[in-house]
Amino acid sequence: MPLPPLTQIPPQIACAADYEAYARERMEEAAWAYLAGGAADELTLRANREAYERVRIQPRVLTSMAGGGTALDLLGLRLPYPILLAPVAYQKLAHPQGELATVLAASAMKAAMVVSTQASIALEELARTAETPLWFQLYLQPDRNDTLHLVRRAEAAGYRALVVTVDAPVNGVRNREQRAGFSLPTGVEAVNLRGMRPMAQAVARAGESALFGSGALDSAPTWDDIAWLRQATGLPIVLKGILAPADARLAIEAGASAIIVSNHGGRTLDTTPATLDALPWVAAEVRGRIPVLMDGGIRRGTDVFKALALGASAVLIGRAYMHGLAAAGTVGVIHVLHMLRTELEITMALAGCRTLAEIDRSALWPPAGTGPD
Ligand code: FNR
Ligand code: LAC
Repeated sequence: MPLPPLTQIPPQIACAADYEAYARERMEEAAWAYLAGGAADELTLRANREAYERVRIQPRVLTSMAGGGTALDLLGLRLPYPILLAPVAYQKLAHPQGELATVLAASAMKAAMVVSTQASIALEELARTAETPLWFQLYLQPDRNDTLHLVRRAEAAGYRALVVTVDAPVNGVRNREQRAGFSLPTGVEAVNLRGMRPMAQAVARAGESALFGSGALDSAPTWDDIAWLRQATGLPIVLKGILAPADARLAIEAGASAIIVSNHGGRTLDTTPATLDALPWVAAEVRGRIPVLMDGGIRRGTDVFKALALGASAVLIGRAYMHGLAAAGTVGVIHVLHMLRTELEITMALAGCRTLAEIDRSALWPPAGTGPD
């Protein structure tokens, strides 16, 4: 039996990653496999984390920090710091209050939150509770009328952008979930999608094609659907799940207002590059024309700093806050955000960067243009 959520935060929790063990003890084993797992052999899941370990920051001393700060402007929003909450489905699996607990934390911390299409609480209810900007993560539905219905609901509820996730037209090969026998328990459901035609599933009898020829891929979204969506809504469109520089170019051509370099936390296609490794390639292609955000494996303020140095305008966290949620509900999510923000500020101070704009490649080791022969 999982333990109940913490009612007070133990002093042993000193960083975001410390929440993981507390979260695990408070979730059903199969739900934990869903949250923690990645696709197939989880090489990309691991690579996302390892990429930060290879990058070194150049410390700078005696730099004036007067007048500095972590604020940024993003798609018409003024955010106090560059850490957003990534869309994570079915948060009632982690805590009985689910996404409501998260939205309260985001509000307390003035963090923007991306609400999943597959949230376990209705998008309208979350919007009513929020005192912080919300973006709606949209999965394009097999039926355009269903997609349009979701978009209109998000607009009416006051969501400020649509985050269209493009890297998961089919489920990845989720071996960890399979082995744990994961399925949604009663009481946890994608309530926003009630009554809509479900998305393709990669299952078939022996001797039959799982996807090709089965009709399942015929309704999978394409660039034409992004063009259609662009004219169907006035909300900014953010494309989530870009790794290939060529796709970043197509995203700009399709009218995306921003992109998120992401491999879905290693949950879709295994053996793709770590997002931190893909980021500079995408940023070089985009050349500042639209903001480039990124997610994947962020557990430290130094991770945020490295992503910014390699071309991100802001980052999103997924599992890190879900661990806080599972362990301690709203307070846990607040604590995770607070620690990450504080660590980012400490990193900036010790690396001699007064503002986010000053965080670029020159903040990393080795120093450019100098050095031993
Ligand atoms: C996700 N992610 C995700 N993305 C999305 O666009 N829609 C969704 O519904 C979900 N659901 C979801 C569930 C769970 C349990 C996880 C762990 C992730 C992906 C998420 O937005 C983000 O890209 C990754 O979680 C980032 O990696 P980290 O921070 O978890 O390492
Ligand atoms: C996942 C889907 C919901 O990653 O995006 O589980």
